[in-house]
Amino acid sequence: MAQADWTVHNADGRRRVIVTKGLPGTRWLDLLTGAGCRVEVSQSARVLGREELAVRIGERCDAVIGQLTEDWDAGLFDVLAAAAGRIYANYAVGYDNVDVDAATERGIAVANTPGVLTETTAEMAVALTFAVARRIVEADRYVREGRFESWLPTLFIGQRLCRRTVGVIGAGRIGSAYARMMVEGHKMDLVYYDIFRNEHLEQAVAAYSELLVARGEDPVSCRRADTVEEVLATADVVSLHTVLDDTTTHLIDAARLAMMKDNAMLVNTSRGPIIDEAALVDHCREHPHFLAGIDVFEHEPSLTPGIRDLDNIVVTPHIASASQWTRRGMATLAALNIIAVLHGLPVWRDDDVLPFLSDDPPDAAPSVVNATELGLD
Ligand code: DGY
Repeated sequence: MAQADWTVHNADGRRRVIVTKGLPGTRWLDLLTGAGCRVEVSQSARVLGREELAVRIGERCDAVIGQLTEDWDAGLFDVLAAAAGRIYANYAVGYDNVDVDAATERGIAVANTPGVLTETTAEMAVALTFAVARRIVEADRYVREGRFESWLPTLFIGQRLCRRTVGVIGAGRIGSAYARMMVEGHKMDLVYYDIFRNEHLEQAVAAYSELLVARGEDPVSCRRADTVEEVLATADVVSLHTVLDDTTTHLIDAARLAMMKDNAMLVNTSRGPIIDEAALVDHCREHPHFLAGIDVFEHEPSLTPGIRDLDNIVVTPHIASASQWTRRGMATLAALNIIAVLHGLPVWRDDDVLPFLSDDPPDAAPSVVNATELGLD
């Protein structure tokens, strides 16, 4: 079994924290070392296997910051519990890679990174929407290949989004941020499906609609659909923002793709297995005007055969949360959750993460802690 290279910070720290990938910024590291932790960071870009992680956890490990690419199952939490681990912080908002029940049964807290990546991820969904609607990737390739000889009235005609209908499946934090960007930016009508009604979102769209009417423009509408199918059949653009679990795996399959408009756009920045990719490939082959923008893959990082050859599918490598602010903030949040739990406090569950990320945090934020205050020395 190959062992990754690890960098050790604050070697004499009394608490041992393992970080399974290098993270952006230094604030998270300063916080952990300042709180008396020895921090061991993997320098490897490859996904660390279960056995490798277990060996690294060893006999004593207080906390881990892990990645969505690792499978944190009961076996690994057995190893962490035996090493007196108190918290596993997933460096992601999604936690389908974590057996939370198994961690809880072993007395290990689980933290994730909600809130800090909401707008960044929604912005990426917007970017993919426009990339497919305006054929940005094809057009870029055309210019680079030296094929642009003259302006033409028919060159790369795409789709206009203004005043059309946007559909959102999963109207939580990210889904509703995307919905508002599309509605308020492009005067689109909204149809959403979620098991919970999102009154905040509905009120925001209603207020925006009133503003339009007050300016003498047509209103926009917002409707919560009774079914996923209703969204698929109605919307010009559908963006997926659900969690991945047994109920959402292959939520978008051949039958549901067939319900969508022939020139509809499908965007996925949530988790790959929500779309049956073999069905998507067939559908995109049969419907050349159907467009898909996907940042996540069913068999990530592998591409389902066929995707590579289809111009009506735009792909990006799971980068929806990749802005400096967000990725540094995710690291800070993970570090602060670890410090809090080692101090006997719960992980942060409030939507508002900004107090943690500000350079000048208010008293309520635990970023002022140091090793002595925590009693870790
Ligand atoms: C998440 O957080 O779940 C994203 O997929 C990665 O940032």
